[in-house]
Amino acid sequence: MLYKSLLKPVIFKKDAEEAHDLALRISSEANHSAFLQTLASIIYGGGKNQEKEYWGLKFKNPVGLAAGFDKNGTTPKAMEALGFGFIEIGSVTAKSSQGNPKPRAFRLPDDNSLINRMGLNNDGSDVITDRLKNHNLSIPLGVNIAKTNDASIHGKDAISDYAYSYEKAVSVADYITVNISCPNTGEGKTFEDPEALTSLLKGLNPSTNEIPTLVKFSVDTEKEILRKLVEICERYSIDGYVATNTSSNRDNLNTKKSALRAIGNGGLSGAAIANKSDTVISTLYEILQGSKPIIGVGGIDSVESAQRKVDAGANLLQIYTGLVYEGPGLIKKIKNETDFR
Ligand SMILES: Cc1cc2nc3c(=O)[nH]c(=O)nc-3n(C[C@H](O)[C@H](O)[C@H](O)COP(=O)(O)O)c2cc1C
Repeated sequence: MLYKSLLKPVIFKKDAEEAHDLALRISSEANHSAFLQTLASIIYGGGKNQEKEYWGLKFKNPVGLAAGFDKNGTTPKAMEALGFGFIEIGSVTAKSSQGNPKPRAFRLPDDNSLINRMGLNNDGSDVITDRLKNHNLSIPLGVNIAKTNDASIHGKDAISDYAYSYEKAVSVADYITVNISCPNTGEGKTFEDPEALTSLLKGLNPSTNEIPTLVKFSVDTEKEILRKLVEICERYSIDGYVATNTSSNRDNLNTKKSALRAIGNGGLSGAAIANKSDTVISTLYEILQGSKPIIGVGGIDSVESAQRKVDAGANLLQIYTGLVYEGPGLIKKIKNETDFR
């Protein structure tokens, strides 16, 4: 109520990235203030006990923050105070990056969605892992890693680039997500090609450490490719899956074509991708038969959309765009009213 009636009208007057920066500044402030954290947990925290255990980690509840909101790991304590049961920071890359030129984030209010082409802007894995040492969180911290957004880093160097962030993440993360599906890189290519994924997982060699390692797929992954990719992941002892990342597709949107043309490229997130994301989760569940946990993400903005992800096969959930449209009250609502596995 507080968010939708008071804050959202003000925030939505700002450019989407400026609004995000403001939310980050406030959250970073709260990250260092016990008073603000207490205040946030009085307003937004609490609720039904929904503790779950996966990979030997205790999740206070199954509702997590999706990658991309806190790329630099500056707000985890504040996010815990808002009631999230786990947090995924990043994507973190080996070298720091400014990302793509602005503007690069856009609201699609007629679709309760966003388009972004941030381009993996982040402080780099050295600075971020340093920042997260002694983080003192009582919920699991996921670190999402990607390849540095620099088209000149390819082939073997691309694998070494990922491996650098992976090693760094091992020192601070409770779980690591390997983001193979970012649509916003300079080279315009992802690691969702069977050959590229095989080389990557061979290079990372996740079976040599104790940290659960997950792979994150695009919402645009076709069923047969998904089968092949999961087969490769299983060969390299991947512990779970995050489904899904954003979409490059623009079908069936309410937003006018001219507005979409003016925005240009980027990953579509929010309500517009919810159904397609549910389909990817169902396919994953069909392949895995419950043998590995699935984090469901993509267009959750209500208890109903959260329930559809759980029914499709998700064990844990993550939210990003839904927070922009519905505010942090959504976390407790989903936590209290969804029937989880
Ligand atoms: C502005 C923005 C930046 C994002 N950055 C990342 C990122 O760096 N790494 C990543 O794996 N996903 C990133 N995502 C994707 C989200 O984690 C999520 O998979 C996707 O937005 C679908 O969930 P949603 O509909 O709840 O937003 C980003 C999403 C948005 C909106």
